[in-house]
Amino acid sequence: MFVKENSCYLYKIWIDNFCAYPPNTAMTSLNRKDLLDIESLTTEEIDLICRNAKYFKEVFTRSVKSVPVLRGKTVCTLFYEPSTRTRLSFELAAKRLSSDLINVAVSTSSVVKGESLIDTVHTLEAMKADYIVIRHAASLAPHFLSRNIKASVINAGDGFHAHPTQALLDAYSILEKKESLKGLRIAIVGDILHSRVARSDIEIFKRLGADITLVGPPTLVPDEFYIYGVKISYSLDDILPQLDVINMLRVQKERQQGAFFPSIREYHRQFALTEERLARCKSDIIIMHPGPVNRGIELSNEVAESPNLIMNEQVTNGVAVRMAIFYLLAGGAVLGDEKEIKED
Ligand code: CP
Repeated sequence: MFVKENSCYLYKIWIDNFCAYPPNTAMTSLNRKDLLDIESLTTEEIDLICRNAKYFKEVFTRSVKSVPVLRGKTVCTLFYEPSTRTRLSFELAAKRLSSDLINVAVSTSSVVKGESLIDTVHTLEAMKADYIVIRHAASLAPHFLSRNIKASVINAGDGFHAHPTQALLDAYSILEKKESLKGLRIAIVGDILHSRVARSDIEIFKRLGADITLVGPPTLVPDEFYIYGVKISYSLDDILPQLDVINMLRVQKERQQGAFFPSIREYHRQFALTEERLARCKSDIIIMHPGPVNRGIELSNEVAESPNLIMNEQVTNGVAVRMAIFYLLAGGAVLGDEKEIKED
C-alpha cells in the first residue's frame, strides 16, 4: 500500500513540476541496483538524473523541504576516508527523502579492531540497510560490495577511480547555466593523476559532447590520459581565453608519494587561477571546484570570492542530484512492486 501511495505521489510531482519540461516517458527510473560509475550509466540515465535533480532543487525553495519518497527505507553512509561535502550531502538528501539514516563513524567502529569491509557491510545488511553509500581508498571497493550484497550500493568516491555523484552534480551545475555541454570548451586543471573527480568528469563531459583539455604539470597529467580522448596542455595561460568552463582541482598531497613539482609556490605561479588570469578569460566563464579548496594554491583569495565561481551552487546541486539518485534507484523497485500488486 505504501508503495502505491508513493507512486501516486510521485506521479503528482511530475504533473506539478514538469509540465513545461516533460519527463522522458520511455524511462522513469534507474533500472539498476547500484550507482557505481559514470561509464555504466547510459546517456539517457544521466539525462534522467539531471531532470529529476531539477525537480528536487525546486523542493528546496519550499518551506517544507522534505518529501516522503524513502519513508521506511534505511540509508547507511560508510566513509573510510574524510569527507565534508559528499557525506553531508548524501545524509541531507536521505533525510529530505524521509529515510532512516545510519552514519557509521569508521574511526570509532569495529573497523579499527580489524573487521573486514564485507563483514561490516553484512552487519549493516542484517540491520536491514537498503542503501549503502560508501567512500573507500581502494579503487573498485564499491563494485566489489555491489556483487556481494543485496542492498543498493552508491559510490561516494573510490581511490583514484571514480566519483560519479560529483560528476553528475558538476554536469548538472553546468546545465543550469548553459543549454547543453555540446561544444563547450572545458579545462580540468591540476592534479589529474590522483583525481577520481577528474576521471568521472572526463567521462560525463565527453559523453555530453564537451571539448576537454587537461591542464597541469606533465608529472600530474601524464600522456596516458590521451586514451580518454582529451587534449592536454602544460600551460594554463595558452588556453584561458577560449574556455567556457574551468574546473580547478586541489593538489592532493595526501595521495602523492614523491615530488610532482618543485614547490607549491612554483605550482601556484604556473597553474593557479589568479585575478590576473581571470581577467584574460571570457567574462561569463564558469569556474568550478569540487572542494575542498586550498586557498592560495589552486585559487587565489580574490578568485575564491569571484561571482564566476559556482562552488557553493555545486554543493546545493549535490543534494538535489543525490536525492534524484536515491529516488530513481528506489523507483525501479516501486514500479516492480506495483506490477506485482496489480497481478495479484
Ligand atoms: N568534493 C568532495 O568529494 O568533497 P569531500 O571530500 O568533502 O566529500
